[in-house]
Amino acid sequence: DLRKTSVQELLRSTDLDREVLLKGWVRTRRGNKYVQFISVNDGSTIHNIQVVADAEKFSDESLKEITTGSSVAVRGKLVASQGKGQAVEVQAAEIEVYGASDPETYPLQKRGSDQKGISLEELRKIAHMRPRTNTFGAVLRIRHAMSFAIHQYFNANGYFYVHTPIITGSDAEGAGQMFRVTTLPDVNPPLNDAGHVDYKQDFFGKPTNLTVSGQLEGELAAMALGKVYTFGPTFRAENSNTARHLAEFWMVEPEVAFNDLQDNMDLAEDFLRSLVRYALEHCADDLQFLNDQYDKELLNRLKFVTDNEFQRLTYTEAVEILKTARQKFEFPVDWGTDLQSEHERYLVEKHFKKPVILTNYPKEIKAFYMKLDDDGRTVRAMDVLFPGIGEIIGGSQREEDLQKLSTRMQEMHVPEEDLWWYLDTRRFGTAPHAGFGLGFERLILFVTGMTNIRDVIPFPRFPKSAEF
Ligand code: 4AD
Ligand code: MG
Repeated sequence: DLRKTSVQELLRSTDLDREVLLKGWVRTRRGNKYVQFISVNDGSTIHNIQVVADAEKFSDESLKEITTGSSVAVRGKLVASQGKGQAVEVQAAEIEVYGASDPETYPLQKRGSDQKGISLEELRKIAHMRPRTNTFGAVLRIRHAMSFAIHQYFNANGYFYVHTPIITGSDAEGAGQMFRVTTLPDVNPPLNDAGHVDYKQDFFGKPTNLTVSGQLEGELAAMALGKVYTFGPTFRAENSNTARHLAEFWMVEPEVAFNDLQDNMDLAEDFLRSLVRYALEHCADDLQFLNDQYDKELLNRLKFVTDNEFQRLTYTEAVEILKTARQKFEFPVDWGTDLQSEHERYLVEKHFKKPVILTNYPKEIKAFYMKLDDDGRTVRAMDVLFPGIGEIIGGSQREEDLQKLSTRMQEMHVPEEDLWWYLDTRRFGTAPHAGFGLGFERLILFVTGMTNIRDVIPFPRFPKSAEF
């Protein structure tokens, strides 16, 4: 009995004039009373396969059912195609419709081939249907390829994948942008003697939240396994109504014992370059589609990143450049204030015209765990800035000295009693170490050329959005 073959395999096949079975969703059907052309996609590739049906062999009734969005099984002969742009096609002997799709109500009726019809904005309102479009098929396949490439890179370089908790009692970034996790009732929660909500009666016996970063637990693992990484969902309840922020996003966080800031930059640069190279090598069809459809510079930009070194400079040097820039900024630049995305993009897109790594930021604008520089004013932080994106990576060498770390925590009002386990890494066999976090969706934005982060994750979470 004949087994199905994927569209990807059929299109690459050189073994012609044989009987095949294919299954997928109809993108379009056109033709006349003699011949019908049905293009079918099964998700295995951006390309559709053309099914040719002798209209006289099929009843009008059965052809009518084959509408955009319907699912079909086609048995027929794989033959060389006369049509341009395709090497093979299938001459249908039998077409079975598994599930009809009413053209009057199918939300993607106008978007059979992605050439026209619905904007990305409109598609966001029907996010549950987006994977059926060419654009989201391409984005999701690239997203998959990048996850795979991340694991492959680390595995090949001797890193261990550690699973850090999603529910945690600590705030890794000390920024307070957390989603509370609780089993206590909203109405009449138990109160303690002081009249406050009594978290001792909560599931974990204390307030907990969804993790904002796996770094602190990653550091514990690095102090034992040497080279580790986490790759998981992270959650931030910041007002993330921008094209670069999500409330739920995925972060890749390597952490390496005995690495300093220089090693950390070298790792970040090599890592990013090899991921982009992987995309160019393994996602060529999807990238070509996105390049042609949305952004004619996409492929050039990706190649540029693989072929050129990043520019490295300190925050202080960057501030000097920004102060003498001819461009007018909305936010003033002053040593000590955080850079806005307009400043980051000026450096990357206008001044250096290449990816930039900024280091040694003022300690006041960075997290408590970063290693203090000798000047006592700056820390060994690094942000990697990318064209069109701004910050794609944030990382640092960590403060390994217990006394200095504890002082920073007091200065920044980070409760030591919540992080006693973290401080144990500095009490017992402390060592220099460094790591960073790559925002996975920001990487996907860069690689796909999409401009809104809500278009590179299947189910975006942002304020007032949890429909699914
Ligand atoms: O710079 P961030 O906040 O650094 C950390 O969380 C560190 N603990 C990482 C580490 O050193 N292990 O976040 C890291 C990256 C950012 O550079 C950005 O790419 C991404 O995570 N990111 C977000 N992506 C989407 N939506 C958001 N709301 C994001 N916030 C940060
Ligand atoms: Mg950051």
